[in-house]
Amino acid sequence: MFDENTLAYCQNHCSEESDCAKTIIEESRGHVKSSQAVGRLVGNLLRVIAGASKCRTILEIGSYMGYSAAMMATAMPPGGRLWALEEDESTYAQLCRNIRQNSLENSITPILAEGFAWLADYKGQFDLIFLDARKELYSNKLDLLYNRIVPYGVLAVDNTLAGGKVLAPTHDWEVAMAHFNRSLMKDPRFTVVQLPIRDGFAIALRGGGNDWRIR
Ligand SMILES: C[S@@+](CC[C@H](N)C(=O)[O-])C[C@H]1O[C@@H](n2cnc3c(N)ncnc32)[C@H](O)[C@@H]1O
Repeated sequence: MFDENTLAYCQNHCSEESDCAKTIIEESRGHVKSSQAVGRLVGNLLRVIAGASKCRTILEIGSYMGYSAAMMATAMPPGGRLWALEEDESTYAQLCRNIRQNSLENSITPILAEGFAWLADYKGQFDLIFLDARKELYSNKLDLLYNRIVPYGVLAVDNTLAGGKVLAPTHDWEVAMAHFNRSLMKDPRFTVVQLPIRDGFAIALRGGGNDWRIR
């Protein structure tokens, strides 16, 4: 593995954040859970995925203050929309303020809801779904996620390595993450890559494997 200096080099040689994402991360610094945002490395990865896939519809489950949402939203083509789901009321209030203050209302729609329950009721599909929520809820959600992503759309998942704990998980969320990784890898409807960056990040294409006939 790379040492800390090399990792810092990677972080510092990613693009600068979009202005609104930078403002949001600075705003969140004083908050107790300020380290929850994905940061510049993963933020730029999301930005590249959203931009390269020309995503017009993005769903984020677990938005916190809106940092990753702002990174993705600024990579979408004009007319694109990101639904930012946050279940905690006071965090949601701050998320709404950040969206307003950064003039992101035309591209980000904040929603106060538990993400998977909301998704089960929602009948449409997204070009990209980004999961950054409570890992204990991920189990048995692959059918739902598959059905809510367009063919050749992308599922992106943060924290998939749980700080390396997925190899010998002890806490509930680590067990849940390890179980989810295994199910995703075994699901022939997705083509999956696990990236050992930051806390682990998975990218899964809806398609591939034995599912190319959806073409
Ligand atoms: C790690 S933070 C998200 C950070 C954000 N993606 C970013 O990088 O800026 C997780 C957030 O998801 C929210 N959350 C957790 N489980 C959720 C769920 N099932 N539905 C909606 N929000 C959830 C938490 O309240 C918290 O604010």
